[in-house]
Amino acid sequence: MVRQLSFTTLCFFINIYLIKAMPKKILITRVIPNIAYELLTEAGFEVIVWQGDEPMNQRKLIEQAKSVNALLSLGSNNLNQIFFDECAHLDVIAQFAVGYDNIDVTAATDAGIPVSNTPDVLSEATADVAFGLMIAVSRKMFYLHKTIGQGQWKKFEPLKNLGIELSGKTLGIFGMGRIGMVMAQRCQGAYKMNVIYHNRSRNEEAENLFGARYVSFEELLSESDVLSVHSVLSAETRGIFNKESFSKMKRNAIFINTSRGGVHNEEDLTEALRTKTIWGTGLDVTNPEPMLPSNPLLSMPNAAVLPHIGSATEEARYGMARLAAENIIEFYTHGKMITCVNPEALSILKDK
Ligand code: GLV
Repeated sequence: MVRQLSFTTLCFFINIYLIKAMPKKILITRVIPNIAYELLTEAGFEVIVWQGDEPMNQRKLIEQAKSVNALLSLGSNNLNQIFFDECAHLDVIAQFAVGYDNIDVTAATDAGIPVSNTPDVLSEATADVAFGLMIAVSRKMFYLHKTIGQGQWKKFEPLKNLGIELSGKTLGIFGMGRIGMVMAQRCQGAYKMNVIYHNRSRNEEAENLFGARYVSFEELLSESDVLSVHSVLSAETRGIFNKESFSKMKRNAIFINTSRGGVHNEEDLTEALRTKTIWGTGLDVTNPEPMLPSNPLLSMPNAAVLPHIGSATEEARYGMARLAAENIIEFYTHGKMITCVNPEALSILKDK
């Protein structure tokens, strides 16, 4: 045991020595909170931060990535098969986001490149946006705010601008992961909502904590008063909320999406609102992004749209930058990552 421990410690110091003696180059693909730069340089890495206001296009990204050992990437970087064909030399990729649908993880694994993401640190922030959108839609807040500026607030209207209340209603969570659980906690605490959920697998913690009931996708559609999407975007979830799904929802249902715009079909959603098939929608993610200023959802009374700000708090973005940097440091010092999404790649021995 003592021997094992000292061998591990020895390896750790050898790795630190090697990092300092032959600094690995890390490319951070946008300016992010400085803590990532500080941690990486303190640990002995040579860090290059892309200073552009826009994400690099793929050609530029490949060109820049060719001269570094590791990438701290953002969701706006398209890390597809073409990228991995050209950049298989990379040791590791740490993504500054919980979602990683911009990364072809199978191609990364085939190239022997471990990839990490930033879960947990943004769950509170993202659930707040889902919760806020739910309230905003239920009382048409975004729309009514705009009407004041248009001079439409003339008198008290007994039968106009009516919203719907949330107390005791049923919250349906699509994707009961960390963010879905915080949303469920918020909704139960504030409105004593009943929680149902649909997920790839059962979430016993959510069942014990919130009495959440696992239901089929069909039941989720037909029973939810508020249906909040917290799933990943994958081949299974792409466009799953479409004309057919909306037609199975309650007429007073509110559809919230703070995960990825690709999970819903936006034309079908707009049509469902127009035809009053469902009551309202709150979106922090759209399809495509950015949403065009002429999009009809922006002028609908029962829609509230935000420009993908789920993780946009000081605390969450700091936590994301720190965790992404720590993943890279952990990889080079211990051969592990804190939040690796393809751990099988960690065991692939590469001669780079
Ligand atoms: C934001 O959308 C994220 O995935 O972190």
